[in-house]
Formats: sequence, structure tokens, C-alpha cells
Amino acid sequence: MIQYDNQHQVFKLDTPNTSYVFGLTDRSYPGQIYYGKRIGDTDLMYLLRENERPEPPSVLRREKAGYFDFYPMEYPCAGIGDGRESCINIRTLDGQEGLELNYVSHQIFEGKKTLEGLPATWTDNADSCSTLEITLGDAVTGLRVILSYTAFTDVDAITRSVRVENAGERSLYLTKALSACLHVEQENLEVITLPGSWSRERILQRQKLGYGSLVTESIRGISSHQDHPFMALVSENCTQTTGDVYAMNFVYSGNFIAKASRDQFDQVRMVMGIHPDHFCWKLEPGDSFQAPEVVLVYSDEGLGKMTRSFHSLYRKHLIRGYWKDRQRPVLINNWEATYFNFDTEKLLAIAREAAAGGIEMLVVDDGWFGCRSNDDSSLGDWQVNEKKLPGGFTYLAQEVNKLGMKLGIWVEPEMVSEDSELYRAHPDWALQLAGREPGQCRAQYVLDLSRPEIADYVYEMIRTVLSSANIEYVKWDMNRLLTDVGNLTLPADRQGEIMHRYMLAVYGLQDRLTKDFPQLLLENCSSGGGRFDPGMLYYSPQIWCSDDTDAIERLAIQEGTQLLYPLSSIGAHVSICPNHGTGRTTPFETRGVVALSGTFGYELDITKLSDEEKSQIPGQVARYKKYSALIREGNYYRIASWRENHRYDCFMVVSEDQSEALLTYVQVLAQTNRKSLRLRLAGLDPDAFYEIEGKRYQGAVLMYAGLLIPRMNGDFQTCLLHIVKVG
Ligand code: DGJ
Repeated sequence: MIQYDNQHQVFKLDTPNTSYVFGLTDRSYPGQIYYGKRIGDTDLMYLLRENERPEPPSVLRREKAGYFDFYPMEYPCAGIGDGRESCINIRTLDGQEGLELNYVSHQIFEGKKTLEGLPATWTDNADSCSTLEITLGDAVTGLRVILSYTAFTDVDAITRSVRVENAGERSLYLTKALSACLHVEQENLEVITLPGSWSRERILQRQKLGYGSLVTESIRGISSHQDHPFMALVSENCTQTTGDVYAMNFVYSGNFIAKASRDQFDQVRMVMGIHPDHFCWKLEPGDSFQAPEVVLVYSDEGLGKMTRSFHSLYRKHLIRGYWKDRQRPVLINNWEATYFNFDTEKLLAIAREAAAGGIEMLVVDDGWFGCRSNDDSSLGDWQVNEKKLPGGFTYLAQEVNKLGMKLGIWVEPEMVSEDSELYRAHPDWALQLAGREPGQCRAQYVLDLSRPEIADYVYEMIRTVLSSANIEYVKWDMNRLLTDVGNLTLPADRQGEIMHRYMLAVYGLQDRLTKDFPQLLLENCSSGGGRFDPGMLYYSPQIWCSDDTDAIERLAIQEGTQLLYPLSSIGAHVSICPNHGTGRTTPFETRGVVALSGTFGYELDITKLSDEEKSQIPGQVARYKKYSALIREGNYYRIASWRENHRYDCFMVVSEDQSEALLTYVQVLAQTNRKSLRLRLAGLDPDAFYEIEGKRYQGAVLMYAGLLIPRMNGDFQTCLLHIVKVG
């Protein structure tokens, strides 16, 4: 619900348990007043300290610059007095920066608009949210800025986005257009981010916020392995169940910045948006620029409640399409099984064994096209290599379908190898800077998708392959960062648009793909989880989480990913041991349990498994099917973190009606002379009775007194408990 209190000039946006409030001062500057637990009144203007000066009380003047440097502006502008991080800046044709935004008008309506060309949360039920659009204007340039806020009625989340319009008479350059800003007035805040690396994505990091700034950012052209478009300010007492959390997550997959700064007055400002580096968007009179959406979540009950709000929002209002609420097929992917060394016979041998175990889909990974036998060549030549796969996908799909399985394929449409027919024909199609040889990465260049004719060509190639056979799944990979970001056709003063235009083109391609093939199951991937973000989730209901398939390393990677994203979106597979990345050997059962908390699948040469391992597959597949709805739709509770305690990991998913739950426990390192572990469960109905392995417990007992986890011998052991309400 959104209300405007005309008397106090206050806007109040309510979700079921939170309120977000800002007001308009007499000079029409929107100032942020409050974000937190839901409140009932709008008489809050006193909190903007309109009559208070930051200077010593003896100084009676109130000057503009000092005022801006203190005021909690909803959407801070650069250049006119606020010395903190701004959200917007421009450069005029005279080369000047700076602008001043004042309130012009607003409108409130039910539902939510789409963001042109961009992924964003959505609804098909106008009752589930309302939207406020507030227009600000700069008197000198004629620039208009429309701030959009959507408050959901079924989730504790608010989304913000910004549209900038040049309503003036002269062209100008938008050099910065962040999407959201939040002010928090609370002492001793800490900052949580999700940094990482290839094979070590999204590892939770927590730091104290002193004076100055903490930043997480990407200028790699992808949201990246190294940083993640997420930042949360948390109170120092914040745990899974207690404390304040103010979180932002960016619905975008390219360059971003998130920055939290503590100023001289102990006010904290957190901003998020497209990174201003390598960004400059020309706005001719009448042009507009749409900045992507930021999701805001506040929790007064720690990280757990924040996580459940993000999961719920993304399940209900971000993920789309045929597979949104459907059980995904159990797949077997040949990457770690064969790498590039496969042919039809090998794939069918894998498929036959897989079908016997109940696996439902074969995915042919990298290496089926051009003359690709290693990663040195052929990206861009999306024709089946008939030497490896005679009869192409038509034949393979027929044979795989005969086994009762679906067929899926891997593609990397955004790239071109230097050694490829495509590059030989169009060397100018790669991103490049005039006079410089573009840098290779994994022996490949990035296609300049910001040029529509190249994006169209790429789409046509992929569409042709997918139309050639019964292909029901695509893994869309992207294996390098963007460098040499120059374009041979755009004018000089539009070169700063390429990074964002590239991202819009990727979204456009995936939009076309999902419209032309509505039942296709699309899984995004970027060298593992280098582009695992809400932007990609809008197009594909699942994303490959990490190339690290080691069941133990995965605990921390999946914990960080689960902090924001529903389990049903997290690509997770059982792979071979010793693990190709770590050399570690873990029990087949443990690998199965760890992969169960994502989109369950296999990535190994099933023909080479021992009979003992192979015999476990039907049971693992059946278990996935039994629990898949619970895992997909259940509420998530983290009980313990191996990343923190270095010994064990534990989380639960609990059905919405609290009638059943699944507890996943992994003992990483065994210890001798230890008592069994007593863990307090969460999310259950305290008054109900539950059965676990034949014994009855009261919900309150399990949550407040605890459950004893049986002692297990050996490292890397697991215990999976189904908790069922019996009364
Ligand atoms: C990176 C992906 O993350 C892997 O799963 C695999 O598809 C390779 N690319 C193939 O090149």
C-alpha cells in the first residue's frame, strides 16, 4: 500500500511488515525519513531536521551547500553541495557537471509497469503491489527524473528504479544514473557482501563500517565471480534470527557499484546502480534512459527473514515462464564426463545408463559444433560437427527420446573464437578499440552485440540449431569478461553506451529465445556462477552456480547463493571423485544430498561408475522427485554454517503450511571424543507434533530445546531428515 499525506507532504510505502517513508521539504527536496518495521502514522517530517543546522548552533545562517551535505536526499545529485556519493550526474554541451532536482509531480497506481528492455520484478495481479512514480526536475537543463517505487502486498520487498528524460532543448550526457539510495541512521553498522572468484563464488563477507566507504563493484561487463550486486547493512547484533538488515540486490547482469559510506555525522548512505565507470549515455532532447531495478528488503529478524523475503519475491515476482513452478528434469551433463572428447556413441552410452537410473535429460555440453576439440576454436560456428555427431541433433534427439529422455545442449552465443569461420569472415564483429589488438581470454573474443545486426545474426544461428531437432533445454554460457569495449559504428560520443547496450542486447536475445521456444528450459551460466544474478533469473529459472562441483566447497558457495536466491534456481550436480577441481573424495551419497538443494543433476561418466555408486542413482532420483516441490517452494532456514564453524553445515526447508520440512546436515570433519550435536530447528509450528525417523517431537521442543544429530564416523558424512507433521 502506498499513501501520500498531503498535509505533511509525506509518502509512506507499506509492505506487510515494513514501511518506507520520505517527505518533501518546502524547497521540494525529497528527503528519506525511515525504512524499517511497519508504522502506522505519517507525521514524521520532524525526523528530517528541517530546522536544524549541522553547523554549531551559534551559526544562524543556513546555507545551501552545507544543507545538501547533511540532508538525506532520496536521489542525491552531484555538483551542488552534497559531498557524499551521488546517484546522478550529467555533463552539458558546455562541459559542465551538476544538477539540482526538485519535486514536480507524482502518481500512485495499482500494479507495476515493465521496464523497457530490462529484467524486472513483475506481477499479473494488480492487487499484489502498488507503484509510486515521482517526477523530479532540473530547472536549468530541463532534465526530468522519474523515481519509481513498488511496494508488494505479498512480500516484504520494495523495488526502485529510475528513468531519466531529457525534456530540455539541448543534448546532454548522462554520466551517472544509479538506481537507489538508502540512508540508515544507526550506530555500529556492518556490511555484508558476497565476493568470490571463479570456483569460489558468493562467499559471505562481513565487515565493520567505519568512517569512509565500503564498495563492491564490477566493471567486467558481467555481474562477475569477484563481486556480487548485493549489499546489506546490518546491525552488529545481527544473526540468522536477530537484528536489523537493510539489503539491496540489483536486477542487472553487467557493471554495477554498491557503496556504503559513513559520513561525518554518522549517517550511513548506501547506493546501488550501474557503475559510472565506462558509462556515458547521450540524451538528445526527448530521449530517455531507463536505469535497472534495485530490490530493497528490510528485516528486523536477522538474515533469515531477509533471505525468505528475497526467495519469496524471486519465486513469485521474478522467475517466469513454463518452468517457473514445475519440477525440473533430472539431467546428466557430459562436461566433466568427457570434456571435448565425445561422439554420438559415447553420448548414447551415457544416456542408456542414465535412463536406466531414472535420469530424464541428456545435456550435450561444449564441443559439438564447428571443429571444436578444445577451447581454442569454433565459437561462432554453430553448426553441428557431423564427424562427432553424424546425423546431427536430429538423430541424437531421436535416439535419446527413444530412451524416454529429453535432449539439451550447451551454447555460448556471445563469443567468437579467433580460429572460426565467423571471425575469419567478420573480424570487425569483435569488441575492439581502434588501433589495438583486442585481448583474448580463453582464446575467444566477445561479439559486439551492441550492434543490432550482429545480435540478429547470432540469434538466427541459435534459432536454427534449436529448430533442427527436439531440443528441450539450453545451457547459455558466457566465459569471459568484456575488454576492449569499443565499437566501430557508434559515434565518438556514444562509445560510453556500449557496456549497457551489450547487456540490453543479451536480454533481448534471451527474451526472443524464451518467446520463440516457450517451453524451453533455459539455464544461464558464466564460467560457473559469474553471472548468477536477478537479471539473468528473469530469463532463466535456473543458473549454473559454480564450476566447483566438490560437495564440500559447494557448501559455502551454495550458502552464499541461497542467501538471496531460491534453491530451485541453483544449478547443482553430482560429479565424479576424486573431484576434478579439488582432488577430494566424498561419498556418493553426500554428493547427492548436497546437489539435492539445487536443481538436481549429474555431471559424470555414468558408464565408469562402480556398481555400488550406480545402484544409488535410482534412489537419489526418486528422492529428488519426492522432495522437489518442498525444496522449490519451501521456506529456507539456515541452522549452521560450515563456513563459520569449520565442522558442519545445516539448513532446513519448511513447507508454507508447516506440515513438513527437510533438514540437510553435512558433517565436514569428524572428531573423536565428541558428544552428539544438539541443534535447534526452525520454522516449525511450535504447537504441532512432528515425526522424525519414527519418533514424535513437539515443534516447540525441536525449535527451542533441540534435536540430537546422530554421531557419524568419518569426514564428509550427511544426514537428511524428513520432518512430518503428525498432529
Ligand atoms: C564453463 C561452464 O561453467 C562449464 O560448466 C562448461 O559448460 C564449460 N564452460 C564449457 O566450456
